[in-house]
Amino acid sequence: MTPREASVTVPASTERMSIVVAGHVDHGKSTIIGRLLADTGSLPLGKLEAVRASCERNAKPFEYAFLLDALKDEQAQGITIDSARVFFRSAKRHYIIIDAPGHIEFLKNMVTGASRAHAAVLVIDAREGVRENSRRHGYMLSMLGIRQIAVVVNKMDLVDFNREVFEAIRSEYEGFLSRLRVEPSSFIPASGFHGHNITRHSAALDWYRGPTLLDTLDTFTTEASTVDQPFRMPVQGVYKFTQHNDDRRSVAGTVHTGRLRCGDEVVFYPSGKKSHVRSMEVFNRAPRDEFVADEAAAFTLDEQIYVTRGELAARGGERPPLVSTRLRVSLFWLGRNPFVPQKEYFLKLGTARVPVRLEEIHRVIDAAELASSEGRDGVSRHEVAECTLTLARPLAFDLAEDLAATGRFVIVDDFEISGGGIVREAVPDSQTSARDRALRRNLNWAGGVDEERRAERLSQRAALVLITGERAADRKGLSRELEGRLFEEGRFVYFLAIGNLLYGVDADLDRTDDSRAEHVRRLGEVANILLDAGLIVIASAIGMTQSEVDLIQTAVGRDRVWAMWIGDEVTTDLSPDLVLTQREAADEGVGRLKAFLQERGVIYRPW
Ligand code: GTP
Ligand code: MG
Repeated sequence: MTPREASVTVPASTERMSIVVAGHVDHGKSTIIGRLLADTGSLPLGKLEAVRASCERNAKPFEYAFLLDALKDEQAQGITIDSARVFFRSAKRHYIIIDAPGHIEFLKNMVTGASRAHAAVLVIDAREGVRENSRRHGYMLSMLGIRQIAVVVNKMDLVDFNREVFEAIRSEYEGFLSRLRVEPSSFIPASGFHGHNITRHSAALDWYRGPTLLDTLDTFTTEASTVDQPFRMPVQGVYKFTQHNDDRRSVAGTVHTGRLRCGDEVVFYPSGKKSHVRSMEVFNRAPRDEFVADEAAAFTLDEQIYVTRGELAARGGERPPLVSTRLRVSLFWLGRNPFVPQKEYFLKLGTARVPVRLEEIHRVIDAAELASSEGRDGVSRHEVAECTLTLARPLAFDLAEDLAATGRFVIVDDFEISGGGIVREAVPDSQTSARDRALRRNLNWAGGVDEERRAERLSQRAALVLITGERAADRKGLSRELEGRLFEEGRFVYFLAIGNLLYGVDADLDRTDDSRAEHVRRLGEVANILLDAGLIVIASAIGMTQSEVDLIQTAVGRDRVWAMWIGDEVTTDLSPDLVLTQREAADEGVGRLKAFLQERGVIYRPW
């Protein structure tokens, strides 16, 4: 039967299933993919013949992998097609195959969400048997929660189609996977090269009564239920309409789970800012009033709030994501250099990219042998670790067991993806209770004139400037001077002196150290109201610590608070945004502070 004869009619369903093909090097992954394409008639007309002819001309043996290379070369010339994917179809549906030639590609594909796999094919060479990567990839699949797995024992022709060889591999690998609580849907003896049991049975393997690989794939499901899960969309970008004085912004991203309709309330995390969907944006597509899981989406909001790339959009009334700076995770390390506590890395989850450190290693497991060890000071290549990570700022995420797509992350070490994993648990940090309170407050906030319209009218961005420093520094004087100068220049500015709070808002509090946290919290809450009114607020306090500034940032929003230290030496644990010596403060303090605010876009430079 020639490939064209085997070709199938176009399936009625437009369902698309993504499959990742994994396994040890050279075990036949590309050959099996090439076969699937050829034997389902999914190749462009004449492609197979052309590649065969070219092999003949160059006197080299034909390889199915060349087919994939040829397809990729073609696809790479188009702009929109992802060259790591190939497509084929069965009578049942369309398939997207994610060809993952190495670990890194495999992990990247699995985690970044660009191509989340519904199922996996694990390929084992009958002659070589189970190798380290057969086991490692099995481990990664189990960790990433991929439960639909077909195991192909390939190259059966090289072992004379011997049933015992197949059964031995099957029982060894089944044993390994069962320790990971993974149960493959089928074990298939096959020959990719000769096409046995890929899309059709063969006489050579007549002792095998199970399904072919294609039959097995067709039994897998695409978990349509992701649409019924809570809505999650990592914000890819926010685009401003520039035509016709339009003040709308379009929030764009890919919907990971759930659905969103016009009029729905959307809440952005970690900030907890909320708004309503005004319109669904469609570019060259039919108009619609709903976006669902796996779609690229863009929508405008009723109230114009500042939203930036990296935030996670959720839907009001549904289970919200978690927010923390500490995560307990299971992580797979692939970097050449070990993952160590001394170094700063980046963690990417959804569209967020946050500096991260390894806080503690709880347990390290060898992914091929499943042996575990404790008391380690780093995670080496190919090891899996359970550890706690600390992020430089709060991140919104889900637990992998609740929502896989927003519970997966990768770790970047010097610009390279070096590890990846899943979030097991949100670990409380010093801000947990303050953050919960701020989120609850934001969720109940009654919006009036929105943030962006105020900012445009007032020609300034609301901000809180904290002026702190040593006892001897004249913080109050500088604050007043800054307020005066900004006011003269037409800014809407307010100096919130501590004295303004002490005998009013704080009248019920004493002035002991025990109450200091509550004073700081109230300062943050009052400032938050003034900021909502669009003002630039200046507040001064002696010797603020990092945790106090964190507390205020949690209340007000990190991107709206700037901490300035006045003094020759920073005498607390604070990492200020700007340090001015007493001399600098006296000579040019206001000028420096103004320049800083201009640089951060709080006030705009004169034309
Ligand atoms: P990497 O991408 O390098 O990891 O390899 P791969 O797993 O994609 O393997 P590939 O498909 O490139 O096959 C490796 C070699 O095995 C090629 O020379 C294939 O022709 C050969 N091969 C694959 N399947 C079979 C088979 O069923 N029988 C025989 N005899 N050879 C096979
Ligand atoms: Mg290959």
